[in-house]
Amino acid sequence: MKKMENKIAIVTGAAMGNGKGIAEVLAKHGATTILLDVSKQVHDTAKELTERGFETMALEVDVTNNEDVKAGIDKVIEKYERIDALINNAGVVRLANFEDMDDETRDFHFNININGVWNVTKATLPHMKKAKQGRIVNLSSVTGTMVADPGETAYATTKAAILGFTKSLAREVAPDNITVNAILPGYVLTPMAEQMAKETNPDNPQEVIDGIASGVPLGRLGKIEEVGELAAFLASDESSYITGTQIVIDGGSTLPETVSVGS
Ligand SMILES: NC(=O)c1ccc[n+]([C@@H]2O[C@H](COP(=O)([O-])OP(=O)(O)OC[C@H]3O[C@@H](n4cnc5c(N)ncnc54)[C@H](O)[C@@H]3O)[C@@H](O)[C@H]2O)c1
Repeated sequence: MKKMENKIAIVTGAAMGNGKGIAEVLAKHGATTILLDVSKQVHDTAKELTERGFETMALEVDVTNNEDVKAGIDKVIEKYERIDALINNAGVVRLANFEDMDDETRDFHFNININGVWNVTKATLPHMKKAKQGRIVNLSSVTGTMVADPGETAYATTKAAILGFTKSLAREVAPDNITVNAILPGYVLTPMAEQMAKETNPDNPQEVIDGIASGVPLGRLGKIEEVGELAAFLASDESSYITGTQIVIDGGSTLPETVSVGS
């Protein structure tokens, strides 16, 4: 039996990047996968999976819009009657030095990366509590929790907040047999990483990507499927005794004790 067989799983930010990878891997492991995203592209991503024979549903929803989130979750319950796993993946980053960052950019991060996770979790949790089981997996990052580069104050703040949220919620919902864990990726090759590379060096973003890869002990950026496999583990029964914790998936990028890591 596949590890996500008969499971109903929601992935936010599933149109592209890590969310798409997570949705694909969950589907491959047997889950009925609900892809939720603000982008219309979510329909194409869901169609790709349906064409490969997987049971999916696409929800075009902005995680910051509480009413839309609630309506989306209601649709899932109407059709599938329960939610076994929620992967809170939707997130954004815009680089700007702290002194130059306007409040709008700060709130853009806080609204999507923190309030978005809050909203979808709030709408989903009652259904998990009713079923006396559930898995919540939150995408944090090594950024803000372990490391940081200039320009990331808003993003880093949100990713550290997600860890606090994970631990505190895990404590509250443990009696209901619901686990809450966080994934802390290093650099994963997604549209977000490509966009950060472009913001850092508009003339040669590839140089930025290559530079990042050279600083990773495993010598490359992560793949979305690798994040997907970790999410699938945490969303499955295999992780039944793991809660309130974080797992780093970074190719060893936070490991080096000295600056030179290439050899
Ligand atoms: N790529 C990395 O290197 C990396 C590293 C660490 C953590 N992460 C985390 O992984 C998650 C996904 O990142 P990614 O690199 O795949 O990003 P991405 O930009 O490639 O994809 C993000 C997805 O989220 C969706 N989204 C954005 N705002 C939304 C909203 N308001 N409502 C619903 N969906 C929305 C986008 O449409 C997109 O499909 C984020 O939480 C990010 O912080 C990424």
